[in-house]
Amino acid sequence: MNEKGLDSGDDAFLSGALLDGWYAPSLRGDGAAGIGRWSEDALFDFLSQGRNEHAVVFGSMTEAFNNSLQFMTDDDLRAMAVYLKSLPGEDPAWTPAPAEVTTLAQAARSDLPRA
Ligand code: HEM
Repeated sequence: MNEKGLDSGDDAFLSGALLDGWYAPSLRGDGAAGIGRWSEDALFDFLSQGRNEHAVVFGSMTEAFNNSLQFMTDDDLRAMAVYLKSLPGEDPAWTPAPAEVTTLAQAARSDLPRA
């Protein structure tokens, strides 16, 4: 039995996976490949209404919403959102590459062919 990511003691817990051909994103604080940039309110909206300003339920999450989440109390759904926001994500030292700086440096190069 594969017990990887079985509980919150493991970094892989809720860190995303391919499921029925859909990619379930990391539910941890992962900004680049997950929902780390969603606010607690956005999470709550997603769980309580099946959608928010970022997304609509998709893949087998549709079943989770239709058959389970929509029947839960707001207090329970809020607790889930609070809990998910408490899970750490990727190494906080990681920051996106400074794309603008690189792009500007490339654009300033005079040895590149001009269109
Ligand atoms: C995009 C943001 C998503 C969030 C915030 C999210 C959150 C959650 C939460 C909190 C639950 C637990 C519900 C419960 O206890 O009844 C859940 C269940 C589930 N989600 Fe998602 N989910 C997301 C996307 C997805 C996607 C894309 C898939 C499938 C590709 C998926 C598949 C499932 C399944 C199968 C369950 C039921 C798990 C079980 O029965 O134990 N989810 N999701």
